Amino acid sequence: MIRAVDILRQRLGTLRPETAIVLGSSLGPVAEAVASPVRIPYRDLPGFPVPGISGHSGEVFAGHLADRPVLVLRGRGHPYERGDAAVMRPVIEALQVLGVTTLILTNAAGSLTSAMRPGSLMLITDHINFSGMNPLVGEEGDKGFVPMTAAYDAKLGEAMRRAAQAEQIRLHEGVYVWFSGPSFETPAEIRMAQSWGAHAVGMSTVPEVIMARRFGLRVAGLSVITNLGAGIEGASPSHEETKSEGMKAAGDMTRLLSRFCAGGI
Ligand code: HPA
Repeated sequence: MIRAVDILRQRLGTLRPETAIVLGSSLGPVAEAVASPVRIPYRDLPGFPVPGISGHSGEVFAGHLADRPVLVLRGRGHPYERGDAAVMRPVIEALQVLGVTTLILTNAAGSLTSAMRPGSLMLITDHINFSGMNPLVGEEGDKGFVPMTAAYDAKLGEAMRRAAQAEQIRLHEGVYVWFSGPSFETPAEIRMAQSWGAHAVGMSTVPEVIMARRFGLRVAGLSVITNLGAGIEGASPSHEETKSEGMKAAGDMTRLLSRFCAGGI
């Protein structure tokens, strides 16, 4: 059977990206900053999850961002779509085989603090897995015992801070907590997550971080804050709000990622 990585290799030609970026809900416009992209729909790549929800399209943009060869992955599979926490395994494995060493994961998230408003960006410094799922369940032998102590790479985080400073973008920092979704949280769940020391809440990214560490990739995570968590200042988040606010922050995210790519790591 032809593998996704073979198709990617063939389509990429001489392009050898070491950095890949996964775009979260409504951050699709970031892909438009990729110069002369080769575009490969997920449906052409065996094992890649074709997104079935609005705000996500499934397409790889291979090209250059600020002169650095990159793969920008527009759209992801979510564990809540089919109950498979390892839905992104084929993608992450293909990236690793292709020679990618750095994975930047972005998402839309709710804020757990009034001080971090919709439209803000947050560097993920650590996470809490509250989903009850783990994408490494069933991994062969000892491969699942992946240390998560320094899951978010310190050097990449430092490079993100420098990029934000250079672009004069305020970059918050904090802990991201993964709720499985797809329903949003209750106000009581949001209060619980606050008391646990989390700063942002969302339905993705964490399983990809775990899987990426399993495959030895260096990871950075960025959240676009699209709303306050349920009950904070009376907030009642919705998918519509996530999409429209995500879209508004896409410009800042594009500038941040372009500067990050320009700056070296
Ligand atoms: N909760 C969970 N996921 C989210 C939210 C939220 O408030 N906002 C965007 N994604």
